[in-house]
Amino acid sequence: MAEFDVIVIGAGPGGYVCAIRCAQLGLKVACVEGRETLGGTCLNVGCIPSKALLHASHMLHESHENFAKMGLIGAPPKVDWTKMLAYKDEVIGQNTKGIEFLFKKNKVTWLKGWATIPAAGQVKLGDEVHSAKSIVIATGSEPTSLPGVEIDEKTVVTSTGALTLGKIPKSLVVIGAGVIGLEMGSVYARLGTQVTVVEYLDAVTPGMDAEVAKTFQRILGRQGLKFVMGAAVQGVAKARGKATVTYKLRKDDSEATLDAEVVLVATGRRPFTAGLGLEALGVAVEKRGQITTDGQWRTNIAGLYAIGDAIAGPMLAHKAEDEGMAVAAVIAGRHGHVDYGIIPGVIYTTPEVASVGKTEEQLKEEGRAYTVGKFSFMGNGRAKAVFQGEGFVKILADKETDRILGCHIIGPAAGDLIHEICVAMEFGAAAEDIALTCHAHPTFSEAVREAALACGDGAIHA
Ligand code: NAI
Repeated sequence: MAEFDVIVIGAGPGGYVCAIRCAQLGLKVACVEGRETLGGTCLNVGCIPSKALLHASHMLHESHENFAKMGLIGAPPKVDWTKMLAYKDEVIGQNTKGIEFLFKKNKVTWLKGWATIPAAGQVKLGDEVHSAKSIVIATGSEPTSLPGVEIDEKTVVTSTGALTLGKIPKSLVVIGAGVIGLEMGSVYARLGTQVTVVEYLDAVTPGMDAEVAKTFQRILGRQGLKFVMGAAVQGVAKARGKATVTYKLRKDDSEATLDAEVVLVATGRRPFTAGLGLEALGVAVEKRGQITTDGQWRTNIAGLYAIGDAIAGPMLAHKAEDEGMAVAAVIAGRHGHVDYGIIPGVIYTTPEVASVGKTEEQLKEEGRAYTVGKFSFMGNGRAKAVFQGEGFVKILADKETDRILGCHIIGPAAGDLIHEICVAMEFGAAAEDIALTCHAHPTFSEAVREAALACGDGAIHA
């Protein structure tokens, strides 16, 4: 008889959520994690620590830019980097210990170590072999690098090293204007670093609604970030603790260089599955390394499932969490479902950027007739009161049925506002449904309602 009903490999947001849900559904479950603490990349070296640094650096920015305007007079604070890192570590500790508590509460066994899968139904840690009826791979992802770029996590860093730099660098070159590059670029720009972002494409954040991307780049530019667009990085050379980034401009093939104290490589991530023994087991994988799964997260091996960054789809903690809960339901003999068309994406800069559903570009490509309802935060009293009138809410609705197809927000609390639209979309709502819903005044949410009103007879405060 198998020792466990389920063994989940990896305790990131996909894995730990899956393990807790399995336990709640009455299954005997273990979760394998080789790190010292639970929570995976997200809690230890990703989402959570970066949000702590974004918050601290935003406070500093506020003190310099806006305190005096509000009559808060006095010397603006200086940065104690060691203390700021300690605050970030404290936040990490609270969160990872929280998962440990939840494991105990739900009777999830934490198997400490790095797992391999020697055979179907078996998980090996060092010399121990454990058996389970079902195994879920939730091993996440790792940063990719570029040819000619050697990561040392000191001078040339990934997001992991960028969270623990020995000091605030005078200059930083960020390779890649994706989510990581812009969030960490923002942190250091606010702390006084001269930040230059080198991006291969002509727009920031690939896949984002083009109008939002353009506004976002302009706002970040005003915050002091410099951009070199349409530039393919060729390599990074290190000498005497400094780095020189060589890039080639796509428009004319000309080469140029940039010197910096630190280089952040933020050119994407890839599934982290090395060492699991997938090849020997005969597990099917996609060209880019993602484990192949069917619509119910089953691999080609009986009883072996995979979720999160290790499979196809956006590499987002909340996508992994949804899959974790859904696969637990499937294993428990219930129905598991993830609505991949309604997964929000958020960038936690100031202003925040959030989106869900289709972009205008996608709708054009599909040849779908749509209405645009747009509302600027300049017309939102609450936003102006807190110096955040920049940005807008844009709702895209079907021209005939008024059903909401997508929403793109750049502005205050965008990452929270987007969920009103997610819920509306799950219910198949029309823009008019939001327009006719009473929204409290004065809130940022009123901007969402005004954008919905703009899909119909018009916004009031535009
Ligand atoms: P990304 O895929 O978002 O962006 C990488 C960027 O690098 C792209 O714009 C790409 O064109 C550019 N690039 C690639 N090669 C280049 C070269 N040779 N020269 C210049 N530019 C080059 O990847 P990123 O930012 O590393 O993030 C990885 C994953 O982590 C993403 O899937 C992201 O969604 C996720 N993530 C999500 C967060 C959030 O939801 N707030 C926060 C951090 C990461």
